[in-house]
Amino acid sequence: MLNDPNEIVLDTQAFLVSETDEKGIINFANDEFCKYAGYEVDELIGKPHNIVRHPDMPKAAFKDLWDTVKSGKKWRGFVKNHTKDHQHYYWVFATVYPFINCDGKKGYISCRRVISEAEKEKYEKLYKEMRSKER
Ligand SMILES: Cc1cc2nc3c(=O)[nH]c(=O)nc-3n(C[C@H](O)[C@H](O)[C@H](O)COP(=O)(O)O)c2cc1C
Repeated sequence: MLNDPNEIVLDTQAFLVSETDEKGIINFANDEFCKYAGYEVDELIGKPHNIVRHPDMPKAAFKDLWDTVKSGKKWRGFVKNHTKDHQHYYWVFATVYPFINCDGKKGYISCRRVISEAEKEKYEKLYKEMRSKER
């Protein structure tokens, strides 16, 4: 939201990366992911990725993410995350890729970039509608 003091807007060049195991447990986060989320890397490793889940995010978005990547396809979507202090949030456009580790296990990588004000406005509205229909 424009001029919202609780929003952290990503730099245009920001590239936030995290990797999870098959169950969504974080096993890698780059410096930029840590910086925007407000965590030290050690606080993220071993934690479920919903550690950054913002309550405005509809359940259906993550169901779609998981259904897509588990079927071996890449998922792309708009995500609002909160920071460690739960006071701030940041929007990203995420692309999540499934891959197979060298030990044959499945993993997932998410790469995130900045989104436009128009996209934020659109997805704030859409996700609010989706949330209002959730039970
Ligand atoms: C690689 C990867 C990255 C993810 N990144 C995020 C993220 O940035 N924010 C988020 O809320 N959930 C992310 N998720 C989805 C979470 O695993 C989780 O499904 C979501 O936060 C909803 O949490 P819940 O199932 O406890 O409601 C990611 C999942 C994967 C596989």
